[in-house]
Amino acid sequence: MRGLFITFEGNDGSGKSSALQTVKKELLEKGFDVVYTREPGGSYIAEKIRELILDKDNLGMDPKTEALLYAASRREHITKTIIPALEAGKIILCDRFLDSSLAYQGYARELGIDNVLQMNQFATEGLFPDLTILVCTRPEIGMSRIKKDERDMDRLELEKITFHNKVYEGYLSIADHFNDRVVVVNGEQSKEEVLETVKNILYPFIKERMG
Ligand code: TYD
Repeated sequence: MRGLFITFEGNDGSGKSSALQTVKKELLEKGFDVVYTREPGGSYIAEKIRELILDKDNLGMDPKTEALLYAASRREHITKTIIPALEAGKIILCDRFLDSSLAYQGYARELGIDNVLQMNQFATEGLFPDLTILVCTRPEIGMSRIKKDERDMDRLELEKITFHNKVYEGYLSIADHFNDRVVVVNGEQSKEEVLETVKNILYPFIKERMG
């Protein structure tokens, strides 16, 4: 039996991770066999690559190096964590995946969505999520949420607002392109409303697929 591969996407400060944590908890309480994971990271070597990518000292990183490192970390994550969990019939809830590379490296870094998709195919061998919940929040709102948190920002978050605007636009165009699997949620609603909307998409989907 194959499990379900569900990804959560969104621009920085969109509110996706907080909704994701709550649905993970609820699904576990309901007795579903859930695996939570994230990118970049999600396995031993992938987490090491994550440190390298997000390190604030690595400001001069070439965009193609960045894209390749994300893809390398994804390959580790897929082979060590995602595929074994799928084969064991589990529900995988993954914070960011391929669409992040398409939006951030493909669109915002201007490497080209198609180029980054093609490059990632070597790593993913055609593995796409069964469902992607994309939480979108205009960057001026998303970034002000992050600043309010008063935590240290990573290398990508420290990018200028023009970069974050492009990420946002990139995500909308990806949602359009992959409208068979991507569902957009308005992240500008209250935390409770975002959560409700996410649940209304996710729970019927799981019920339909897993019974
Ligand atoms: P993280 O702290 O995990 O972000 P968040 O809490 O917003 O999910 O940091 C991941 C950063 O890396 C985030 O700014 C998005 C970026 N990213 C890419 O640029 N490309 C990718 O392929 C992935 C997976 C993430």
